[in-house]
Amino acid sequence: MSQQERLVIGLAGLGTVGGGLVEMLQKNERDILNRTGRRIWIKTIAVRNINKARTLPENCRLTDNPLELAQDPDIDVVVELMGGKDTARTLIRESLLNGKHVVTANKALLAEHGEELFALAAEHGRFLGYEASVAGAIPIVQTLRESLAGNHISSVMGILNGTGNYILSEMTSHGLDFATALTQAQAQGLAEADPTLDVDGIDAAHKLILLIRLAWGLHYPFPELSVQGIRGLRRMDIEFAREFGYRIKLLGQAKEVDGKIEAGIYPALIHYTMLIARVGGAYNAVRVEGNALGSLFLHGLGAGSRPTASAVLGDILSIARGAEINNTGYRRALLPPASILPAEDAMTPWYVRLMVKDISGVLRDIAGAMAEENVSMAQVIQKAECPEGVPIVFMTHATTGRAIHAATRKLEKEGLLLEQATCYRVFARDSGTETGSGTGPEAVPEADL
Ligand code: HSE
Repeated sequence: MSQQERLVIGLAGLGTVGGGLVEMLQKNERDILNRTGRRIWIKTIAVRNINKARTLPENCRLTDNPLELAQDPDIDVVVELMGGKDTARTLIRESLLNGKHVVTANKALLAEHGEELFALAAEHGRFLGYEASVAGAIPIVQTLRESLAGNHISSVMGILNGTGNYILSEMTSHGLDFATALTQAQAQGLAEADPTLDVDGIDAAHKLILLIRLAWGLHYPFPELSVQGIRGLRRMDIEFAREFGYRIKLLGQAKEVDGKIEAGIYPALIHYTMLIARVGGAYNAVRVEGNALGSLFLHGLGAGSRPTASAVLGDILSIARGAEINNTGYRRALLPPASILPAEDAMTPWYVRLMVKDISGVLRDIAGAMAEENVSMAQVIQKAECPEGVPIVFMTHATTGRAIHAATRKLEKEGLLLEQATCYRVFARDSGTETGSGTGPEAVPEADL
């Protein structure tokens, strides 16, 4: 096989995903050759500790200097799977400057410094592949960039963090507490090195920034995104949600409202008839609405060694085949800033749980505070006293977070609440304007996208 038919890789990082890539390259060698007509050779792997015992692919050497990959004239593609922002950013920059294609799973880097790196890739006519950065094995980057390019997209929502979804799933199905479910997720190699990125919604937020860029060709500055994670989410809320006919998911959502982008990451109640409510375990899902396609729902493993390697390989094979280079899916080198609708101003139904003392007049005061903010209640449940007080739980008609939070702050100031109010957005069957009937989540009928 001639030099030209061989594609030479420099790999930075041999952790969960890097290991999966090496494994799948070997396992699928014949398929890859059949599909591309080229052999993929990993010439060098950059690792932190070169003395650690490991089995390496044939003719592969180790280095502890990732920047060596950017400087090696033999290397065609630098695959960055080391994570972190500083060295990874330098490695990608140097690689592009030296005329190499780059494939990365680094959503944090692309969410926070994507503008610079995509511009550099465009300037040098190089592929900057990032399919593995969003939702693991789900091919959402290519889908939005290419397959759905003929649509005007109105909304993208999804479960974008496998660890968070696994934790919520375990809490919902097996009654585990948050800490035990997190430990299990870590043991399965799903969680980020720093699991706060998963449970506090930051990892999902990085991915949502990339989806906004792909869906609308806009730059949404990461620090402006509204982000709430699942730390502190209580089993009690999962149970109340179930009574109303909903499941709680950590949702990433972006939609276009009158030319502005409303976006955020938050725990949300999703009606049980929606497919997204039924995404379990480490699975991710993305639901896209467009003016030609209607609704599209993609479901797959969002984390883990092989599923993420599948996405990395997809990009490597695109390069091997000489696919057209248009990394963001837009012709402009720099994408315009998004005009932002603050999440607090978006209209949606809300779930609210208040812990109060069981004294007369408390329900009247709650109803009064809500009415003052024009919040209209749709359904109310009051449960028997538990050690923390009496939970009063209600679903509202569509209103803003600003109104909900103003009302609950007022109740807090008046000393009526025994703990901070719990308030989550609600997604009903028609994308968020009505509350559900509360009937039979176990007997799930046909699904709504
Ligand atoms: N820790 C991430 C998740 C995996 O749980 O989804 C890759 O982003």
